[in-house]
Amino acid sequence: MFQQPQLLITQEKICQAVAKLATEIRRDYKDKHPLLIGILKGSFVFLADLIRELDMHVEVDFIKLSSYGTSTTTSGKVKIVHGLKSMIKGRDVIVVEDIVDTGLTVSFIMNYLRKKKPASLKLCALVDKPSRHNVPVNIDYLGFTIPDKFVVGYGIDWNERYRYLRDIGFID
Ligand code: IMP
Ligand code: MG
Repeated sequence: MFQQPQLLITQEKICQAVAKLATEIRRDYKDKHPLLIGILKGSFVFLADLIRELDMHVEVDFIKLSSYGTSTTTSGKVKIVHGLKSMIKGRDVIVVEDIVDTGLTVSFIMNYLRKKKPASLKLCALVDKPSRHNVPVNIDYLGFTIPDKFVVGYGIDWNERYRYLRDIGFID
């Protein structure tokens, strides 16, 4: 059967972090109409909570990149599987990601979006594993820094499992 994850970040702590991030974003984007781009699939729960905490008019779009597949380590190759429907040029764009691990995914997407000439481009991530970075990453809005563990829950999966969990935990 499936392993029970070890608790790492409680639902309560996640709520507090999302509220803090929303406060920062609301302050920085006052009188603006940002476009939030969620990276599928892992960010969908986080993004859903974030827009409700933001309590302001935002646009939402999604991009899907090639994922881990069934393994727990990145292949090092990233490609777009499902593209954006929105115009990026001149928009205030915030990329919303669940986890920054090696940093390859976010660095790819930030470079990709930058070429489309947004008015501004920021990154919001719920979880960062700095010890795993392979490329430099600058996270503008960050929820948690965690050690090198494989985490699940709150939208984050292992082989499509565990996304439904309200807390974030780690598995071996
Ligand atoms: P990166 O390109 O190595 O930074 O990997 C980022 C992506 O890998 C994230 O969007 C996640 O979908 C996935 N990922 C990285 N670490 C974990 C983890 O601990 N649990 C589940 N997915 C992860
Ligand atoms: Mg992801």
